Amino acid sequence: MLTPRIKVVGSFEELVMTPMRDGINALCWQRTLEGDFGEIVEKLGVEKGITSLDEERLLALELSGAGQVAREVLLQDQELLRSRELQPSLDCINGYVNEIESELLRTDVQSWHVDSATVEADTYLCTYFGAASEGLRNEEAMRRVDVPELRGELLQLYGGEDDEGFREFLNENYLDLHYKPLPDALPFSFGLGHLWRIATLYPESPVPPCIHRAPATLPGQPPRLLLIS
Ligand SMILES: [Fe+2]
Repeated sequence: MLTPRIKVVGSFEELVMTPMRDGINALCWQRTLEGDFGEIVEKLGVEKGITSLDEERLLALELSGAGQVAREVLLQDQELLRSRELQPSLDCINGYVNEIESELLRTDVQSWHVDSATVEADTYLCTYFGAASEGLRNEEAMRRVDVPELRGELLQLYGGEDDEGFREFLNENYLDLHYKPLPDALPFSFGLGHLWRIATLYPESPVPPCIHRAPATLPGQPPRLLLIS
C-alpha cells in the first residue's frame, strides 16, 4: 500500500497549523472559488513568459461583477499568506521561455522536482486558472542522480570520480533535486482553486519533500494564474 502523502484540510488556519508528519508532505485546503479568473487573465493581456502582478495592476482592471469577485479572492489570499510572514507572488504565466535542456540535465520547473531550503520552510501554491500544477508520490519516482544509468552519464559529463566533488557538482547545479517518474507512476493534479502547502527539502525535515512540477505548456493554451510563496 502507498503511504498517504496528501491530507485535505478545511481552513487556512488548519492548512498553516497542521504539522507535516507520518509521511504526509502535501496539505490541501480544498475550495470551490467563486468569480471569473479567466476574465482577469484575459484583461491582463500579458506578454509571453512570466508576469508578476502587483496589487496596483489588479486594481486598475475594469472588471465585471464576477471578475471583481475573483480579484477579491486574489487579494485576500495574498493577505492571508502575508499575515503569516510569507511573501506570496501572484504570477500570470503565458508559457515558459527558458530553453529546455536534455532530459538528463533539465532543471526547469516543468521537470519533476522538489523545492529546497536551508531552514524549515514550505511552499504554498494555488492555481486559479489554466493548467494546474502536478504532484507525484515519493514512492513513484526516483531522483535522477540515483538512477544508475543517468548517474553514469552525469559522471561522464563531470569527468571525474563519484566523490564529494561530484556530489557538490550535482548539488550546485540543482541536479539532485530533480526526479524521474517510475514506469507506472500516476501523478496527481493540484486542481484549481485549492491552496496547497507542500514540504520542501531542508535539513532534518520529518517528511520527504513533495515532488511536483509546473504543467507542460501546449501551444494555444490560455495563460495560467498562479499564487506561489
Ligand atoms: Fe517547485
